[in-house]
Amino acid sequence: MEKPNNQPSLEMFQTVINTLPFCVFWKDKNSVGLGCNQALAEVAGLNSPDEYIGKTDYDLPWTRAEADFFRECDQRVIQSNQAELNIIESQKQADGHIAWLETSKIPLLDSNGDVIGILGAFHDITERKKAEDTNISNQKLETLAALSAGLAHDFNHILSMILGSSQLAAMKIEKGCDAKDLIKYLDRIDKATEKASKLTEKFMSYSKQGEITKTIFNNSEMIEDVISFIQPSIKSPILHKNSFVNSLLYADINQINQVLNNLIINASQASSNTETIMVNVRSYNIDTLDENDLNPGSYIAISVKDKGIGMSDECQRSIFKPYFTTKDSGNGLGLSSCVSIVENHNGCIKVESSLGIGSIFTVYLPIYLAI
Ligand SMILES: Nc1ncnc2c1ncn2[C@@H]1O[C@H](COP(=O)(O)OP(=O)(O)OP(=O)(O)O)[C@@H](O)[C@H]1O
Ligand SMILES: [Mg+2]
Repeated sequence: MEKPNNQPSLEMFQTVINTLPFCVFWKDKNSVGLGCNQALAEVAGLNSPDEYIGKTDYDLPWTRAEADFFRECDQRVIQSNQAELNIIESQKQADGHIAWLETSKIPLLDSNGDVIGILGAFHDITERKKAEDTNISNQKLETLAALSAGLAHDFNHILSMILGSSQLAAMKIEKGCDAKDLIKYLDRIDKATEKASKLTEKFMSYSKQGEITKTIFNNSEMIEDVISFIQPSIKSPILHKNSFVNSLLYADINQINQVLNNLIINASQASSNTETIMVNVRSYNIDTLDENDLNPGSYIAISVKDKGIGMSDECQRSIFKPYFTTKDSGNGLGLSSCVSIVENHNGCIKVESSLGIGSIFTVYLPIYLAI
């Protein structure tokens, strides 16, 4: 008697994936489409899933930059044989609107366990992202209000220094003192004004963080640029090791520059002249919600490591607060502005430090893409 065939038919399989409430696709090793479900065919403007077969991302409505990014992710997953999960990315769809997606890609294996392509799935998170962006803006306003209060306090202090010195200078002039005796008062006014101007600059750059201008750039080139800009002004040699060379970031390059700048300057201020500062870049995958409240997904981790004075546990608890400083000439605004920038990019900063041994500051940024 003939055995009943319990294997699901191809039609049954297509029916099942068409019923799933998200877009599913699979591609070969060269990122050429092998199949997809109805939901993906619709956002791609195809008449049926069959039309996806043989197409690449460049044949679909996505922008070129998006297609480059999708392909780059595919190739990383294929070559590393490791999944990349919950990547937040944008996609220009067939109806012309730009959707925000949360995408996961896993290696597609044959029966021998060899990688033959990738399997991907995504769902639309545009509404959720809008709500998150509004929430971030509100948090930023609260931080700015706290900063303004601190700034007003510091400015008052500076103004009273200027006022006091000019009143003393006026009294000396009335008493008919020599011009050279006035120099120290003028000097004090000069220094106070300089301090006020530096404070204003920092505050301006802090408040400008509201105006994020994101572009796509190569993380490796960006880090090299920052290092070659800072190295002439500090004595500690900076070494750069990058195991995630070709990755693109979608972020505000000036702001990420500023973050690295602050971390490297802090590292050099904590180090003696000959101690090397290491800038290390690697990829980092999070499967479940982690201790830093980062969403599961694929991240780039940029760390700045020094062998400097390190920090006590108590100091570490305060370093991200605006105006916390242990330096005579510090404003205590560097790290608080770094946190604000990185959180605006949905990332986080982690610190590990031991007194007398050194510190490591690691910046985690999601792998992002937008048009
Ligand atoms: N790499 C480091 N090693 C040791 N201590 C550090 C390091 N980075 C930061 N700190 C501590 O954190 C404090 C706050 O740093 P932050 O960059 O916010 O302000 P700052 O460097 O003091 O002043 P500025 O506003 O000029 O940056 C520092 O004063 C220092 O005590
Ligand atoms: Mg600093």
